[in-house]
Amino acid sequence: MFNLNQIRLDFPILNSTRNNQPLVYFDNAATTQKPKIVIDTISDFYSNYNSNIQRGMYFLADRATTEFEKSRRVVRKFLNAQLKEEIIFTSGTTQSINMVAFGFLNTVSSAGDEVLIGEMEHHANIVPWQVICDKLKLKIVTIKCCENGKIDIWDLKNKMNSKVKLLAVQQTSNITGHENNIKEICNLAQKQNIKVFVDGAQSVSHKPINLQDLNCDFFSFSGHKCFGPTGVGVLYGKKELLLKMEPFMFGGNMIDLVSFSKSTWGKLPYKFEAGTVNIAGVIGLGAALKYILSLGLNNIQKQEDLLKEKMWEELGAAKNVVMGLTKKPDSPIFSFNIKSTHSYDVGSLLDEMNICVRTGHLCAQPAIKSLGVSGFVRASLCFYNTEEEVSVFISALKRIMKIVNNGN
Ligand code: ALA
Repeated sequence: MFNLNQIRLDFPILNSTRNNQPLVYFDNAATTQKPKIVIDTISDFYSNYNSNIQRGMYFLADRATTEFEKSRRVVRKFLNAQLKEEIIFTSGTTQSINMVAFGFLNTVSSAGDEVLIGEMEHHANIVPWQVICDKLKLKIVTIKCCENGKIDIWDLKNKMNSKVKLLAVQQTSNITGHENNIKEICNLAQKQNIKVFVDGAQSVSHKPINLQDLNCDFFSFSGHKCFGPTGVGVLYGKKELLLKMEPFMFGGNMIDLVSFSKSTWGKLPYKFEAGTVNIAGVIGLGAALKYILSLGLNNIQKQEDLLKEKMWEELGAAKNVVMGLTKKPDSPIFSFNIKSTHSYDVGSLLDEMNICVRTGHLCAQPAIKSLGVSGFVRASLCFYNTEEEVSVFISALKRIMKIVNNGN
């Protein structure tokens, strides 16, 4: 049973107040709040079995290694990847993208080749490709998006050719909440031998992911956007591609044999996990994913659909609100502006009422520019938000409109 009141008690911060006003947290696309089980799991690691992993012949090291590897199995199951060696722990989506850009792209491309990127991508899925393409003398070609922010499939088809070696695309937009049809995109790309990197940062907390069905070549997400800790994330890659891919970081833990003349790398996935990784973070991420699975992603989607309907209807009907999206989103992410008012002013006034939203360019300057604005107010909801909070939010916006109009 999905008992929202009970679920909200799992998140200590949701019950906090400021100036006697309850917290309304609508910035879940930037980062999600953490359930007590995640906080306790991390605390348990540091309190009871803190040690390094994979290199100690004692009880604590053995327990830490076991819990760390359990998280890998949880991630594999969560994503329905085929093999646990295909799951690499990183510091987050940004590191995952950099690893593929700097360790893989050169294995499939030569000067003059092309990389395709959707025009609505956020900075982490643009800048690493730009830097490596510059170094390798590859060309970046952008794919147009339809007005709802989804990849324009016709434009994609037109731009795919034998020079294109990789396509980098987000599953869900952090601006419009719309979802790309990754399965269709992968089918099209594979017919032309184009590898597909999918940024799942905005999708994993909202919908079930089945990598074997999507059939993408690489997939990444961040722990902190799905109720886990910051500083930890995942890169998935198909085994045959990870075997070809070169490490991006070198040092302890990722090696097999080291001498002053030559070193060799360890097996998958360890060759990509150099140094002491974020052990507590990985174990905490495992707890977060188990928590999501215990609630059920179908239940999560049902609750988010309710919130989405209400928000879409009431925000869309509010006078002087200019929506950044023309169709109802797939995930409850709403970018908008209040006429003649800067997004930062709206964000600050909402903060006075203890309501948290994101404002500005949303880490996606090219996308914001293509939508013809300088920034947005973005309210991004998730399953622990309530319909009452949506009402509080809409009333707060109406108060703000009065304030700014009086000021004119
Ligand atoms: N890309 C993240 C966001 O949209 C940082 O907030």
